[in-house]
Amino acid sequence: MPELKKCNSCGKTYPHTQSFCIEDGAPLAFIDTLVGFLLDGRYRLDSLIGAGGMGEVYQATHIHLDTEVAIKLLKPEFGSDQTALKRFRLEAKAAGRIQHPNAVRVTDFGVSPEGMAYLVMERIHGQSLSALIRQTGQLAPARAVNIAIQICRAVEAAHNSGVIHRDLKPDNILIETGPASERVKVLDFGIAKLKEGKTGGLLTQEGMIIGTPQYMSPEQCQCRPLDPRSDLYSIGILLYEMLTGKVPLDGESTLQVVYSQRYEKPRPINQLSPHVPPELAETVMRALEKEPEQRQSSVSEFREELERAFAATAGDSVASTMHDETLPDLSRHSAKTELLTTAGNAASGSPSASLPESFASSAPTTPPNESASPAAPANNQSPLLYLALALVVFVLLALVFYFVR
Ligand SMILES: Nc1ncnc2c1ncn2[C@@H]1O[C@H](COP(=O)(O)OP(=O)(O)OP(=O)(O)O)[C@@H](O)[C@H]1O
Ligand SMILES: [Mg+2]
Repeated sequence: MPELKKCNSCGKTYPHTQSFCIEDGAPLAFIDTLVGFLLDGRYRLDSLIGAGGMGEVYQATHIHLDTEVAIKLLKPEFGSDQTALKRFRLEAKAAGRIQHPNAVRVTDFGVSPEGMAYLVMERIHGQSLSALIRQTGQLAPARAVNIAIQICRAVEAAHNSGVIHRDLKPDNILIETGPASERVKVLDFGIAKLKEGKTGGLLTQEGMIIGTPQYMSPEQCQCRPLDPRSDLYSIGILLYEMLTGKVPLDGESTLQVVYSQRYEKPRPINQLSPHVPPELAETVMRALEKEPEQRQSSVSEFREELERAFAATAGDSVASTMHDETLPDLSRHSAKTELLTTAGNAASGSPSASLPESFASSAPTTPPNESASPAAPANNQSPLLYLALALVVFVLLALVFYFVR
């Protein structure tokens, strides 16, 4: 099992080679793990995947079924008293009701005899969206839209079950790369509600904000009641970040970020990424309106706008080759598009060659030399060749003249 270190200030985990937290500069400490522990008589904890603000996530085996799962072990405070336990059971049950290929499946939950509250999920083998953004900077618009549409579909399923996610951020999005497409899995539905705990908001009793304010809606930052349009705002932030490589609103302190979520306008997407189609940029900026009433009315409406923005730019000439049911279904639009590409293209961040120009504009272009015909180098050398030939002829003539004389 790879050893992990953890920031005791923000809870982020790192490989053991890292010494300080990238987020807040705090020194990292080795994590004491529960690897090998048999949880509740049936789940063997095999390795630590990572840790966050609410607890640790382990890869585990259901020893009776011999199946692989992921288990989130919550910190003691989330199961410390009857009220916390009741809230945990309610949220876990609600998360278990969400059935969608883009939402991580919650298969079980419980409290062990030692008093550890845990949540059992399908184990996802993929890369987090935060790692992908770190790696690639900006994503090509087609790829970003494809990921955003899949996030929307999972969140729509949750909203239809009465669950608001509340914590949509790149660390809670995993991406599995298949042979011909990328599949998104959204994690941690509704779990953020447990963080609200006794204060009933995202403020601790000491007045500290819990969570990542860069992805929180203005109403969430103000601890106002939330509706599904709060998730819509957070998806808008995720798409903005995928398209530009930057979160729309940031600051040097948590307080500054919270303030800017409430009062500041994000920079227009086209100032940072001129290649993004204007209709797509407008759709994202509308999701980032401060007042929920000014945004799209639902995540479904936002997703449909994304699909239209994409299709409108695609034109009629591009053929659709999408078969994966988790990929956005654009077939009902007149314009057909090929949204995703081969795994190779997906991994490199480059859209397919058949994508509309403005969506494909961030794809690497073929260097001029590579596209030149094989005959070209010979043409470049021909003056030299003629000169050499002329020289040989001249020497021969000189020799003939010498001997004849
Ligand atoms: N079902 C899963 N399959 C695979 N990896 C997972 C699964 N659930 C979580 N992880 C990974 O485990 C790590 C810790 O997740 P966790 O949710 O505890 O942290 P977080 O998302 O950074 O913080 P937060 O507590 O705010 O959600 C992350 O790297 C996450 O990608
Ligand atoms: Mg998480």
